[in-house]
Amino acid sequence: MNSIDDVRLAGKRVLARVDFNVPLAGGEVTDDTRIRAALPTIRTIIEAGGVAILMSHLGRPKGEDPEYSLRPVATHLEHVLGRPVTFVPATVGVQAQEAVDAAKPGDVLLLENTRFLDGEKKNDAELARQLGALADVYVNDAFGSAHRAHASTEGVTHHVDVTAMGHLMRKELQYLGEALKEPARPFVAVLGGAKVSDKIGVIQALMGKVDHLLIGGAMSYTFLKSIGHLVGTSLVENDRLGDAHDMYEASKGRLVLPIDHKVARAFDNDAEQKTVTGDIPDGWMGLDIGPQSIEHYQSILKDAKTVVWNGPMGVFEMNNFAEGTRAIARTLAGITDQGATTIVGGGDSVAAITQAGLDDEVSHVSTGGGAMLEFLEGQSLPGVQALDA
Ligand code: 3PG
Repeated sequence: MNSIDDVRLAGKRVLARVDFNVPLAGGEVTDDTRIRAALPTIRTIIEAGGVAILMSHLGRPKGEDPEYSLRPVATHLEHVLGRPVTFVPATVGVQAQEAVDAAKPGDVLLLENTRFLDGEKKNDAELARQLGALADVYVNDAFGSAHRAHASTEGVTHHVDVTAMGHLMRKELQYLGEALKEPARPFVAVLGGAKVSDKIGVIQALMGKVDHLLIGGAMSYTFLKSIGHLVGTSLVENDRLGDAHDMYEASKGRLVLPIDHKVARAFDNDAEQKTVTGDIPDGWMGLDIGPQSIEHYQSILKDAKTVVWNGPMGVFEMNNFAEGTRAIARTLAGITDQGATTIVGGGDSVAAITQAGLDDEVSHVSTGGGAMLEFLEGQSLPGVQALDA
């Protein structure tokens, strides 16, 4: 598989698929992690004298919905890149072609949301051909979208002679690939989030590889209930109790559950609250792991040499239920300093580590949510696979 460093970019029109699916509020980008992560690839293209034609999806629009326009992202990119960025209010067609034809070496263009076009998600061959016609070289740097076989991630590769992965894509595959292939041990996974159903594949795949799998977030209540604990009014996926029970049994002690909980009367930062050990009484819901669980998880993590973390330990958006997640973030930063490889992914965990100001203190912050989970499950990613063809 080519990497961007292996291909000639000077004087070329380089179509780069990036993942600029970023949160926006009031027309402003509220988290630009993914935009910054694409800068090395954009800079490589323009410094080599290529034209950088960027494309991305944003959100899940139904047709051309101006709310999902990438225009504000172009403005933000201009700011972080420190160079002009031409926003093209079309993705393919005459307007896009004219913008590309008018561009000079070193210019940066951002095309409109690929999902404004019907053919994107259908991986339509005609759309893929039109995208390919804009470029001499195709670079995929959108790790976050690599699990999607769409026209801009998969189909287009059949219509451009030279394809390559960008710097971010290479870095993501390297960190995650090495963690799975030859992890320095102990290898510990920390998985949180609301639903067991989202994580069944990844838990099963990781179980065969890790020394410990620490569980947090609301999904821990499904596990706890499945092995006979009382969980009060905590969120539980009753249709997953069987799966949870089987995974717990099969783990032979490697799957570690919280032993105490921060519980509240309601899903509210200011609701009546307390800490309980063991069972959660009637009328109370678990919203974070408790202090003994934090200590227990920290004692396992302190010896770890490789850690993969995806999903918060509690409702970290509410200050009173954020400590479990923050403690994991601090612990990971601490062990990274002592030489462990630590990888954090998934929107919520990344937001938590960024809020704690510790995103530079772990080995790698992945820009992939679903893509990271599918990679950890051992599935091949169509956007990556297509670069290999
Ligand atoms: C993500 O945010 O996980 C990626 O950008 C993919 O977005 P999607 O789930 O809407 O395809």
